[in-house]
Formats: sequence, C-alpha cells, structure tokens
Amino acid sequence: MRPLRVLVTRRWPEAVECALGERWDIVVNRDDTPMTQVGLAKAMEEFDVLAPTVSDRINEEVIAGGDRVKLIANYGVGFDHIDLDAAKAKGIAVTNTPGVLTDATADLALTLILMAARRAGEGERELRAGNWSGWRPTHLVGSALKGKVLGVVGFGRIGQATAERAHRGFGMTIAYFAREPKPEAEALNAEYCSDLQDLLAKSDFVSLHVPGGDDTANLIDARALTAMKQGSYLINTARGGVVDHDALAEALRSGHLAGAGLDVYPREPQVPEALLGLENVVLLPHLGSANAETREAMGMRALANIEAFAKGEDLPDRVA
Ligand code: DGY
Repeated sequence: MRPLRVLVTRRWPEAVECALGERWDIVVNRDDTPMTQVGLAKAMEEFDVLAPTVSDRINEEVIAGGDRVKLIANYGVGFDHIDLDAAKAKGIAVTNTPGVLTDATADLALTLILMAARRAGEGERELRAGNWSGWRPTHLVGSALKGKVLGVVGFGRIGQATAERAHRGFGMTIAYFAREPKPEAEALNAEYCSDLQDLLAKSDFVSLHVPGGDDTANLIDARALTAMKQGSYLINTARGGVVDHDALAEALRSGHLAGAGLDVYPREPQVPEALLGLENVVLLPHLGSANAETREAMGMRALANIEAFAKGEDLPDRVA
C-alpha cells in the first residue's frame, strides 16, 4: 500500500513535524507563508490528507480542486475557514483540535481584560515613546476587576475557563449568554441570560466565546454595542467576524466603551484601519493558543485524527 501523503500548509512545532514524518509521506510548506488558493486546490488532487490552519481559506473552489483528499485535518479548534458543506458533499471528513487550547485561550482573554482595564498598552506606548513624565495620582487610571460583572457570550469550554479565571482569580461576578443554561455555571455562581441584550446591559466587561461563521456574523453590531453599559469593555478572542469593527471604533471613539481588547479580526492579517489610531483598544495578532505546550498539543491532536483515518477508525474530533 502506498504511504499516506499529507500536506501541512504551515510550519508546525518541530516535534509534531517529526512525528508526522516518521509515519507518513509529508510535505510541509517550509516557506511558512499562506498558500495560494490555486496551490490549495491543486493539493486536493495530490494528497490524501490536507492539514490546514485558520490562515487558509478552504472554500468550495479549493475543495473542487481534486478528488484525492479524503481528510481535512485542521490544526486549530475553529473551522469557519472550511466550507463544511462542500467537504461533506464530496465525502471528505473534517476534524479539528478541541480541548487542548482551552487554557491558553482563556489565559489570553484574561490578558486582554487586564491590559484593557489597566491601560497597559497605552502605558507601554507612552514609555517607549519617551513621553512618561513620572508617577502622579491621576496618571493612566484604569478600572478594578473585583466585584465587576463579566458577561460571557458563549459558555463552552473556553468561555467557562475564562469565567473561572475571572471569578476565582479576580473576584468578578459572572453572567453568561448561551442557548440554554449550563450545569457548569453553578460552581461559579454564574447568572444565565437567555437574551444577549440583557447580558450586555448588565456587564462591565463582555468577553466573546462563540464560534465564527454565518450564525454569529456581526453578533456584536451597533445595536449590541449601544446596549452595552457606558464605560464598559469588549474582549474578543473568538473570531473577528463576530464584531462590527466600524461600529466598535465609533463606540470607542465616543467613549461609550471605555476600552476593548482584540485578538482576532475579520480579514487577518489586516487590522481594521479605524482601530489602529485609537488608544483605548489593545490589539494582539491572534495569539490565543500561542504557547509552546499548546501548539504542540494541537499538532499531536491533529496527528491523532490522521492516525485514526489511516487505520480506518472513527475520527476522534470529526466535525464533518
Ligand atoms: C483556533 O484554534 O481556532 C485558533 O483560532 C487558532 O489557534
């Protein structure tokens, strides 16, 4: 039997690349720049497994590129960059890497909450520009977290881990919006809100943890931002498309929102121009899962899915 041919579209942690290479015929995009749509489409004819990341757009045209790929083993938990319907229609299985990046992403949500609340980005920029004139009681005064309400939008694994850190570590009160109440909320004394606008109206900080895609596109639009409390903060580690960034920029400019912390954008690596000039927004380059342990675990999880596929077993993390 010929060995499985696997295309890895970006560099993965070395240990994972080695583990893949020991098992199968792998080709890694060593340039580590995004592949073209034409290159991805061609790969559908040349490989058995395509192993992409969030920076690849696996749309209908790419999927139509060939008939050989039978597994798309995504490196990452989110899969809104993959056209699942097109994959299903061609009998291609799709897997992701859930669970292993929960802690890292929740840590980053807290990083953004703290940076926005304590104006850390503004302070660092001021200092590096040589503009710090010394300590004074009114300098860069931010907001405390203790006793403030964190509204969590989407109460899955990452939303819960973020709530847990905020509640246990920083004394925040938790409210959450989800399709239905979750039993895990009890241990955090978290209040369920069945209506998003209600949650937004009572939260001092709002942290987004819903999947991307059509169902959540512009969930946080001008109306939702208006519903948020005067002087509150918006944190997004989910997907850029969940937020209307023009409306967000306006809410930050007018002072209706005190600040925001963003890790994701609708057309990465582009960052909405309207945000770049604003002091009260922290902008990070999609770092949610970026620690060495997590990135390796993500790769090993993708490998486990490829291994199951190679053996004809049930795929542990099948999403389509
Ligand atoms: C994911 O896994 O979906 C992240 O956005 C990339 O780590």
